[in-house]
Amino acid sequence: MAENYKRYTVTAALPYANGPVHIGHLAGVYLPADIYVRYLRSQGRDVKFICGSDEHGVPITIRAKKEGITPQQAVDKYHELIKKSFEDFNVSFDIYSRTSSQTHHETASDFFLKLYNDGKFIEQTTQQYYDEKAQQFLADRYIVGTCPKCGNENAYGDQCESCGTSLNATDLINPKSTLSGAVPVMRETKHWYLPLNEYEAWLREWIVEGHKGDWKPNVYGQCKSWIDQGLQPRAVTRDLDWGVPVPVAGAEGKVLYVWFDAPIGYISATKDLTPDWETYWKDPESKLVHFIGKDNIVFHCIIFPSMLKAHGDYVLPDNVPANEFLNLEGDKISTSRNWAVWLHEYLEEFPGKGDVLRYTLCANAPESKDNDFTWKDYQARNNNELLAILGNFINRAVVLTQKYYKGEVPARGELQDYDKEVLGVLEGMPMVIATYIERYRFRDALSELMNLARLGNKYLADTEPWKLIKTDEERVKTIMNIALQISASLSILMEPFLPTSAQKLGSMLNKPVGTWAEAGSADLLPVGHVIGTPELMFEKVEDAAVEAQVQKLLDTKKANEVANAVVEPAKENISFEDFSKMDIRIGTIIEAEKVAKTKKLLKLKIDTGIDQRTVVSGIAEFFNPEEIIGQQVSILVNLAPREIKGITSQGMILMAENADGSLAFVQPSKEVKNGGTVS
Ligand code: 2FM
Ligand code: ZN
Repeated sequence: MAENYKRYTVTAALPYANGPVHIGHLAGVYLPADIYVRYLRSQGRDVKFICGSDEHGVPITIRAKKEGITPQQAVDKYHELIKKSFEDFNVSFDIYSRTSSQTHHETASDFFLKLYNDGKFIEQTTQQYYDEKAQQFLADRYIVGTCPKCGNENAYGDQCESCGTSLNATDLINPKSTLSGAVPVMRETKHWYLPLNEYEAWLREWIVEGHKGDWKPNVYGQCKSWIDQGLQPRAVTRDLDWGVPVPVAGAEGKVLYVWFDAPIGYISATKDLTPDWETYWKDPESKLVHFIGKDNIVFHCIIFPSMLKAHGDYVLPDNVPANEFLNLEGDKISTSRNWAVWLHEYLEEFPGKGDVLRYTLCANAPESKDNDFTWKDYQARNNNELLAILGNFINRAVVLTQKYYKGEVPARGELQDYDKEVLGVLEGMPMVIATYIERYRFRDALSELMNLARLGNKYLADTEPWKLIKTDEERVKTIMNIALQISASLSILMEPFLPTSAQKLGSMLNKPVGTWAEAGSADLLPVGHVIGTPELMFEKVEDAAVEAQVQKLLDTKKANEVANAVVEPAKENISFEDFSKMDIRIGTIIEAEKVAKTKKLLKLKIDTGIDQRTVVSGIAEFFNPEEIIGQQVSILVNLAPREIKGITSQGMILMAENADGSLAFVQPSKEVKNGGTVS
């Protein structure tokens, strides 16, 4: 497809280096960006794919504090982990940089200074929230409160992640410090503001008028609603000790706001990548595209463009194809609740199956609304689509060619209508897929790719070359030639989505993966070309594998419930005399059996050291009788005997109860002689 642009600058949101990356990151940002870039490269376009770690701001300092390490140690650790995850999933950045780099500090600092010197900021001394206990101003994530827009009680000082609204800390209802839990007080401080209100008319013209129908409805809608509500000046500095220092006199102890410096990180990363970086950022023939998640829309569509406009030298984004959020098994993905499929863990548990996750996440990408990842869907996509359609078709084409022609591509004979129809679809497919990709509709693009494999499969199933070989060898040559041409085009067309599988297919066909312009051709594999040996492209995902993943999530849920359970308040005080009336001993369970016709009761015989006695205990749901024989327990021996289900119970075993209702024995930490007192 012809385009007016000479080159492409494609950025993917810089992830905070405050934790590993998960499937939500991949599905929302990095996978669509990578598909887009791989496609552009296959088209022979000049493209730079830029990313790196966002290493400043409160998200980093909070994480460092939580782990008891310095912010530098935290970003060093997570930068490496994130970088490796992206490499392992074949996200093909041209550079993966970091905002703690020297280049970035200089670039961000210079950018600020240019705006400062050009009088683009307003300087304001205002009252801001201050935590007297922690002796610190409370910026951004150091303060939480109720969002005035949607009522989310955990909105941050700069943004509500629930409804996406960009906030000032003073907008929050019932603000609370996340450092100490204290209610903050107001204190005076000076900051520099970008007067977004002055950019409102221009933003309206550029986005509301200029990008209607062109930007995705979710992105356009959010922007329009912010602009319609009226924009306010926005502070671009913070009272913090972690970040890029504000490079002007009288700004000691202040750094650039992380959302001021992070997007400049795209520029500094490009600087580190190529001496020709300015062309990619300043020449109007460069197409700038930002891939982000929906919580980043305001920063990439309103704030960063206003910064670029204020600076004056830079191109503006042509598009910002933000995605919505991916949920996991019906619940919001959350780092703090460990509710995620972490990319590095996935690859440990499903080695070599990066493409399967890429496929599932693209097929189910949250392009226009939030979507849900489930392990059942993952299994079904692998088994019923990748394996049964794509893998099966390729396998048949390659195996039959080896079998009938020792791997040599046979010549087509006279074509029947069916052959012509199939070759026609093949020819048109690169354009169909390209059009979807260029409109950022990656799900549709992938679905068309699968339609081509589906067509190939159907073509073989309908023509049945394995039967025909006995009666019409010439016809089989035509069929196999066509099946091989489809396979070769598939290797090109699948490369953006499934890069490892595309390479594998390339080696099976003994032909390097070609360019987009070559795809769709009926003569991609010349007659007489010798293909390679068949390999399995995909393997079945067994029930046990996905069940284990679901179990892992259930365990997480349980652990969260336990961790978050409210502990029962303490009972009223009692006297020591009251306590010493209780005669608690250590005893050993010597017999245990279920009480007939009950679910919960076990009949135990306990050697209390004083005697051997029967106790009926409501613990049958948590213990197997055979497994508890021989265990030591604490038993209240002077509880008046009670009749339970016709059995006289003489005493009570002491149990500890977990938040989920499960029970554990209260046991001595080392063996104690039966009859030992507990006091
Ligand atoms: O939301 C985030 O994870 C941010 N670190 C994204 C920053 S994108 C950019 F501007 F650098
Ligand atoms: Zn909200």
